Amino acid sequence: MAGRYRLTSVETVESEGSWLFTARDQHGNDEEFFLVPCADEDRPPVEAWRNRCTHENQRLYREDVGAIVRDGGVVCPKHGSMFDSCSGYCDNGEAADTTLPGVEIDVDDGQVYLVDDDVTFLRAGPSRDDDDDGGPSSTSHLQL
Ligand code: FES
Repeated sequence: MAGRYRLTSVETVESEGSWLFTARDQHGNDEEFFLVPCADEDRPPVEAWRNRCTHENQRLYREDVGAIVRDGGVVCPKHGSMFDSCSGYCDNGEAADTTLPGVEIDVDDGQVYLVDDDVTFLRAGPSRDDDDDGGPSSTSHLQL
């Protein structure tokens, strides 16, 4: 069981615009998720989405800028598709008709908790095996 882990406060997510954390799934894979504010009054004030575009293996939250949140949507930095911050759904661009996978969170008294039994909280911030974010890759030449 994953338990109930306090991630951060709603105030922090709203002031920073997004908030990144890493969790481990049931197969032992470390996966990044990010919190974003949701302005829909019928939903919790914060939602949690996997930090991968559904079109290609592209991070939506990047360490240098966080997630690009505009007009209630999260914008993919690679091709510009926008995912609804509240539902995770995308109706435009290369990622059209897809929905970001999320994790279950709970908001209680202004605090955000991870309550998803399928993942275990590891740390705030990025995963450590993060060399696949589109940055320059290093090549080495072995000489035998
Ligand atoms: S990688 Fe996100 S829209 Fe293409």
